Amino acid sequence: MSDKITIAIDGYSSTGKSTIAKQIAKHLGYVYVDSGAMYRAVTYYAMTKGLIHESDFNAEALIYQLDIVHINFKFNSELGFAEVYLNNQNIEKAIRTLEVSSFVSKVAAVSEVRKKLVAIQQQIGKNKGVVMDGRDIGTVVFPDAELKIFMTASAETRAQRRYKELIERGDDVVYDSVLKNVQERDHLDSTRKDSPLVKADDAIEIDNSNLSLQEQFEKVLQLVSMTIEDTE
Ligand code: CDP
Ligand code: CDP
Repeated sequence: MSDKITIAIDGYSSTGKSTIAKQIAKHLGYVYVDSGAMYRAVTYYAMTKGLIHESDFNAEALIYQLDIVHINFKFNSELGFAEVYLNNQNIEKAIRTLEVSSFVSKVAAVSEVRKKLVAIQQQIGKNKGVVMDGRDIGTVVFPDAELKIFMTASAETRAQRRYKELIERGDDVVYDSVLKNVQERDHLDSTRKDSPLVKADDAIEIDNSNLSLQEQFEKVLQLVSMTIEDTE
């Protein structure tokens, strides 16, 4: 019998979910899955097909084309994590722009998109041994996950972190736009009808506004070890 567990990490934008999920997956030899990258990939598809014009989004046309949207991950041993591919094209870098961030929550509110992506996520995690981060992993994708973590931090702290990342990448952005995007996404993600961002009743909340990456890692690792001990 497999003694591997499922770890669900949910929370607001730029709380450090993917950083901690990658570290824990590496430490345990588990598969890491960035579910947000999948919603970003569908958004990128819609943008490149002209289905999003300024604030206008043709959801019906996207739903009609969903069958030809193929998303998968390929492990990059140099980077140490799996990169996301859309119809065989590596789009890992292209999906991290503020432009994609500014539309993704609208695309992620479409039930047909969620249904397709949740099915892929459940398939990847069906044998456990997976760390997945997102918004609905502990509530919808893996409601029976042995460990659920809900990450929070103040909007300003998160916007500062994301702004720094975008500047380091060489993107031309201003802090105020990044903060506005973080706040808008928090609102859209938390208030949508289908699978809103909410803390699962059995999730452990971690506010990392004042935690370094190392402190955060130690805290989560302790929870992981306790959970694995409990399931043995
Ligand atoms: O990295 P960041 O926190 O900025 O966002 P992300 O994890 O890449 O997710 C981008 C967007 O995808 C979120 O703002 C949500 O709108 C959507 N998302 C979702 O609806 N459900 C998930 N499980 C993951 C992401
Ligand atoms: O996946 P999510 O959007 O929740 O966040 P992330 O991409 O893991 O982290 C966003 C940025 O915040 C990264 O540059 C992290 O290094 C940084 N971060 C930090 O400085 N301190 C923390 N305690 C957590 C994240």
